[in-house]
Amino acid sequence: MEYRMTFKKNILCIGAGYVGGPTMAVIALKCPEYRVEVVDINEERIRQWNSDHIPIYEPGLDSIVRETRGKNLFFSTDINKGIQEADIIFVSVNTPTKTFGEGAGMASDLQYWEKTAHTIVENSTSNKIIVEKSTLPVRTAEAMERILKAGNRGIRFEVLSNPEFLAEGSAVMDLLEADRVLIGAHRTPGGLRAEQEIVDIYAHWLPREKIITTNLWSSELSKLVANAFLAQRISSINAVSALCEKTDADVSEIAYAVGSDSRIGHKFINASIGFGGSCFKKDILNLVYISRSYGLLEVADYWEMVVSMNEYQKHRFVQKIVKEMFNTIAGKKIALFGFAFKANTGDTRESAAIYITKQLLEEHAIVAISDPKALDNAKIDLKGMDNGVLYIPDPYEAANDAYAIAIVTEWSDFKNLDYERIFKSMKKPAFIFDGRNLLDHHKLSEIGFNVYPIGKTPLTHFD
Ligand code: UDX
Ligand code: UDX
Repeated sequence: MEYRMTFKKNILCIGAGYVGGPTMAVIALKCPEYRVEVVDINEERIRQWNSDHIPIYEPGLDSIVRETRGKNLFFSTDINKGIQEADIIFVSVNTPTKTFGEGAGMASDLQYWEKTAHTIVENSTSNKIIVEKSTLPVRTAEAMERILKAGNRGIRFEVLSNPEFLAEGSAVMDLLEADRVLIGAHRTPGGLRAEQEIVDIYAHWLPREKIITTNLWSSELSKLVANAFLAQRISSINAVSALCEKTDADVSEIAYAVGSDSRIGHKFINASIGFGGSCFKKDILNLVYISRSYGLLEVADYWEMVVSMNEYQKHRFVQKIVKEMFNTIAGKKIALFGFAFKANTGDTRESAAIYITKQLLEEHAIVAISDPKALDNAKIDLKGMDNGVLYIPDPYEAANDAYAIAIVTEWSDFKNLDYERIFKSMKKPAFIFDGRNLLDHHKLSEIGFNVYPIGKTPLTHFD
């Protein structure tokens, strides 16, 4: 107990997930005078964070955890004690899309989040700053405040919003070299004082002008809007990719030409089989639900189209495979190269691969899935559908005797394969459907493949 007295401040984070873990590790690294503790109800997860094999893979994270753990970074399941001792509590429990009742499939499921608020009230004996790190619907802080005030025993809680903007695979760099940090607080003396305390944390490593402070509601809503804008760019280019396929325009050339306008920029306009990941769809649907609940039907419909376009793009990809393979893929082996929602992660949440596999199975194809990191998750996603699915780590083996390859994830591993060898081992005519425009299409065509990119003219050997 004694050593705790030497720390300037006690920071607690409830939720040791993709967000809580890396964020707190970086705070501990950059603020050695603060004690940072991460707690979670999941004992196994905490055990892993305390072991040599931390539960999530992010470049650079392992060494930061090793450097700080046991010094000023701690992982524990003792949530109640953690709350008691904390000055600042970050809440980063998960907020999935609701699967039941009112708003099912759209609204956020706030049950964990609300339970956490109650636990905080019950265990607090001193004033605290509560920071929403989880992505939440706008005006959630209001509900949080009501819960915190309801059990009031003279304790002051100041609720702030500090959304995360981490992308998987670059979480540590996104924290260390953040474009911006956003902190929302009430524009009251108490709110501004609390805001300054959170600013002070990030100011340990970021220039002050990158730390944006706003009112609470702007901060909450900015997170949803940021993800909606990013996803909207992808849906926009994907919509254009369909038009390119009809007109012999080339979507990569268009993306380059359009993105060269500095007002537009080059990022997030790569055509694909559709975006995946745990956030984009969830956050947009959340935005849609909120807009609709305020009666803003046009606003809701506008954003909902971003998700609809994404569904269309996934569907279009499968349709193309079936159509080009002479309208029948029953009994044909199709190798899926990639299953993760993007490269450099084993995460498959909302991956387009799940939809694609299911549709191919509906058509009675045999789907051979190869992915450097995501096969374990693929097995979980496709549980109960194993009839017709093969999980094959070696892409050469996956492609052996296949009629087609579909590139689903942009792993660089797939770029460097020996496609001559692969072509020889496949059934003819051999097809490649490049859902990420990852490969050298002309080279593949020379080898003999019939190549179907996204948003570009196919290169075929048919008359
Ligand atoms: C985060 C954010 O919290 C979410 O709002 C955002 O949209 C996506 O990223 P993430 O860190 O990815 O979620 O979630 P996850 O990896 O599932 O971690 C959440 C952790 O909270 C889990 O380890 C879970 O056990 C823990 N938890 C959940 C609690 O400790 N208490 C609870 O009551 C519920
Ligand atoms: C996203 C946001 O980028 C991050 O700021 C937020 O905090 C969480 O959600 P993440 O889901 O990890 O991060 O992945 P991201 O890199 O944004 O990719 C999302 C999906 O879009 C992936 O399936 C990716 O393949 C796809 N994508 C991305 C495209 O299809 N085209 C692009 O140009 C960019």
